[in-house]
Amino acid sequence: MRRLFPPPEAAAVPSSGLSGLPGLADAYAYPEPVASDGCWLRANMVTSLDGAAHHEGRSQPLSGPADMRVFGVLRALADAVVVGAETVRQERYRPARARAEFAERRAAAGQAPAPAVAVVSVGLDLDFSWPLFASPTVPTLLVTGAKAPPERLAAAAEAGVEVVFAGAGASAEPALIRAELAARGYRRLLTEGGPRLLGALAGARALDELCLTVAPRLAIGSAPRVTSGPEIPEPQAYRLTDLLEDEGFLFHRYRAI
Ligand SMILES: NC(=O)c1ccc[n+]([C@@H]2O[C@H](COP(=O)([O-])OP(=O)(O)OC[C@H]3O[C@@H](n4cnc5c(N)ncnc54)[C@H](OP(=O)(O)O)[C@@H]3O)[C@@H](O)[C@H]2O)c1
Repeated sequence: MRRLFPPPEAAAVPSSGLSGLPGLADAYAYPEPVASDGCWLRANMVTSLDGAAHHEGRSQPLSGPADMRVFGVLRALADAVVVGAETVRQERYRPARARAEFAERRAAAGQAPAPAVAVVSVGLDLDFSWPLFASPTVPTLLVTGAKAPPERLAAAAEAGVEVVFAGAGASAEPALIRAELAARGYRRLLTEGGPRLLGALAGARALDELCLTVAPRLAIGSAPRVTSGPEIPEPQAYRLTDLLEDEGFLFHRYRAI
């Protein structure tokens, strides 16, 4: 892994520090939150050269060893991983692991051994017997709106899953997702998508940072881009803060302006 931007002399962690997990974690440390809710919400997504966010429903074919390292480090730094229900269903999400390499760092930061997973859903059509809900490292949260289907709310309650209401309607409102998670002590937030959830979060200007891996792969096909959603009046501006490279994979970090 080497740093392409900013130039090594201007970077807090130069290329030489990026080969080990501690250096990579330092390079991706959460900045001080700037929003009034005290949260920092970053997204981590991988895209093919031609803009695909998945191949046959999975992002793994677009990934590689260095991308998986960054993925793991970003999880290890987060209080909670916010993920859309379709990604949970497609990727058969499992609980985040408590990793020995990060135990000390997390304890020093006042964090649980692993990030909580917060699944965002309208319909709650999820299997609560899955390990993600039934045997998580730290309890998994379900984030939805007040008008979620009562029978599915009952199923979640029966399974002992904590429900976070973040909206008066059926869906969760991005600003309230942040606020409700912050109220429970989850302030260093990481969303792993998918495209529809990321489109909703970014579209509402609730995203602070985008960590975008460009994989040296062509996916062709008809997969969506890393965001999807309704048109917005004009493209949003982001500022490049970091660019790393490993075996042709480019790791961008952009901040919302
Ligand atoms: N390239 C990458 O880095 C990456 C990352 C993640 C996922 N993916 C891929 O993306 C695909 C899935 O993405 P997707 O865009 O179809 O789905 P998604 O964003 O993962 O999930 C969409 C679902 O999330 C829920 N949701 C989204 N916004 C919501 C809101 N504001 N309030 C309440 N619920 C909300 C709804 O769940 P309900 O349907 O339950 O109501 C919605 O159907 C998978 O194939 C996965 O492999 C790629």
